[in-house]
Amino acid sequence: MENAKDSIEVVAERKKRALSCIQPTGIPTLGNYLGAMRNWVGMQDEMDCAFAVADLHAITVRQDPAQFKKQIYEMFALLLAIGLDPDRTLLFVQSQVPAHSEMTWLLACHTQFGELTRMTQFKDKASKHADNINLGLFAYPSLMAADILLYQPDYVPVGADQKQHVELTRDIAERFNNLYGKVFTIPKPYIIKNAARVRSLQDPTKKMSKSDANQNAYISLKDDPDTIVRKFRRAVTDSESRVYYGEGKDGINNLLEIYSAITGLSFEQIEQEFDGKGYGEFKTAVAEAVVDTLRPIQQKFGELIKDRPYLEKMMAEGAGRAAAVAKRTLDKALKKMGFVVM
Ligand code: TYM
Repeated sequence: MENAKDSIEVVAERKKRALSCIQPTGIPTLGNYLGAMRNWVGMQDEMDCAFAVADLHAITVRQDPAQFKKQIYEMFALLLAIGLDPDRTLLFVQSQVPAHSEMTWLLACHTQFGELTRMTQFKDKASKHADNINLGLFAYPSLMAADILLYQPDYVPVGADQKQHVELTRDIAERFNNLYGKVFTIPKPYIIKNAARVRSLQDPTKKMSKSDANQNAYISLKDDPDTIVRKFRRAVTDSESRVYYGEGKDGINNLLEIYSAITGLSFEQIEQEFDGKGYGEFKTAVAEAVVDTLRPIQQKFGELIKDRPYLEKMMAEGAGRAAAVAKRTLDKALKKMGFVVM
């Protein structure tokens, strides 16, 4: 009996781990979904996964408290609605696990000023919020490193825009391990090539973002079918009319990426499907594919968001399990650094 139990544990230990988080700064876009969230669902079958609502990250820009709280519930409900399964996967809200804030300080003291100034997201956000370039915005990658390293994941599944932060996390982890002995697993960014960067429908040189002032630029996971069709019809394209992937065709390339990510068809297959057809028909097909993909998620979300007691029960369970894992790593890091851990 004892042997059988031991060998099960050994097998379980070898399973790869993945962790990722998403900020509750509004309903996610199709970019968040195709670039990151959708891939998380499939990863549950292969790895031990943990996913969190990164609410502490969201306060690096000002949030309205009542709206913020609503968005935290919504994001948590959405994680369940897309098919993340709390029986197999650790789902939690970042601020409910205090070790994230504690670990951030340890890691902030091992993150260099020069590294932080090179972060693209910091430069972008600092220019967008020039009146509020706070310490939290600057130190954001140290908090993200804490989120990751506390759970010892092998992989961090993110869209292409977060790769730089995961690489900095690796550097911080290596620096820490070299100084004090091995505490952290060195994580790898895990980027699904297809739709790793979904672009704005209005300016396809920029990424699709939920904070875009122009609502036509993004598809929100809550948009109804008519809105989705209308936004795709208005999507910026070019002056040609043939559907193919090519230079100078950012708008069409983006629609091809979206359609390919959803249908699994290659660009060549899509080009054949729309041979001799115009952009209008292509846009309608992309819109319909998106509507069909989002319909079951929206239905499930609609049910879950009405049931706060259930969401709170799931949050409490997730936070409890996460705290146990996180505390083990935090205590190990503290001990190695010489703190007196009681
Ligand atoms: P966030 O909340 O901006 O985005 C969540 C995930 O969605 C991906 N994403 C995209 N992918 C493709 N195309 C797009 N247009 C697009 N927009 C967003 C992001 O790459 C991300 O994977 N800092 C993170 C949140 C975070 C985190 C972490 C992630 C906090 N702690 C620990 C991983 C591990 C962020 O702002 O993602």
